[in-house]
Amino acid sequence: MSGSLSELPIVVLDALMPTSQRLVLNRRGSMVWEVQGHRGHYAVKVGYPIEATADWPAQPWTALAPAREGAVLHRLGFDDFAYGEWEHGTWNFQPWHEGPDLYRLWEPCRSEDSSVAPHSSVALGCVEALAELHAKGWAHGDVQPAHFIVGPERTHLIDLALARGGHVPEGYDFPFRGCLVHYEAPEIARSVLATGEAEPTPEADIYALGASLLISATGWRAIEYSDDAPRPVQREAVANGRRRPVKAPGELGELIEAMLSHAPEDRPTIYEVGKALSCL
Ligand SMILES: Nc1ncnc2c1ncn2[C@@H]1O[C@H](COP(=O)(O)OP(=O)(O)OP(=O)(O)O)[C@@H](O)[C@H]1O
Ligand SMILES: [Mg+2]
Repeated sequence: MSGSLSELPIVVLDALMPTSQRLVLNRRGSMVWEVQGHRGHYAVKVGYPIEATADWPAQPWTALAPAREGAVLHRLGFDDFAYGEWEHGTWNFQPWHEGPDLYRLWEPCRSEDSSVAPHSSVALGCVEALAELHAKGWAHGDVQPAHFIVGPERTHLIDLALARGGHVPEGYDFPFRGCLVHYEAPEIARSVLATGEAEPTPEADIYALGASLLISATGWRAIEYSDDAPRPVQREAVANGRRRPVKAPGELGELIEAMLSHAPEDRPTIYEVGKALSCL
């Protein structure tokens, strides 16, 4: 059967000629595969549209996300990737990065009886990955713990499908409608509530990095709201900046506080964060 929502598109099979493949996830209009073959080790992302449900309106843009990410990778000057269209949407492949993500790596820091402190060198690796993107004039838009892959040599910031900073072909572009609320800066939440859309910025990425470091180090979200509250109610809490009284330990904790500043102009830049971290 071709073109099903449980197989790799034929054009991807032809390009990578897999010797092994593993479905990593299939949710919310996106499949991710880990593929090994003669060409190398790749992550393959395959997008398809989401039908409307009781909780969600239809989301046709999920079908475009892999091609949009491919166009961003191209703009950023990467070379070992490809993207294109298949029957139900678009796909891309890019190098597979080995390693745990930030949240998994800092699991020992979150256990009750643990005295393991979050290591500032890990935070610095995340900062360096985001700084690389900001230096090229781009904002990521979807910074979250799962998007930092901490490898043996360096940390990679993945999932550039929502990044902003340069031209993306019109046919693959779609508006930014916010990210995971846990990591959404107040000004983004406010704009999404008011208009349904927002503009990713480096300042909002800094907030999202602060929220990512906080949740990974402590297990707590930055903002007080209940898990089962409707999304607009969660966004209200974020827009109002109802912070939880929770802090990561030590000087890293102080730095995270600054990154979570309510006003974007009060947040440090990624270079300032990097400088502060390398002094810890
Ligand atoms: N290049 C890669 N190297 C290693 N793992 C990857 C890579 N790309 C994606 N993954 C894995 O697949 C997961 C989902 O990837 P990604 O976030 O890019 O897709 P997504 O469709 O946007 O998913 P989500 O909706 O959860 O953000 C990642 O959290 C990671 O575990
Ligand atoms: Mg993602």
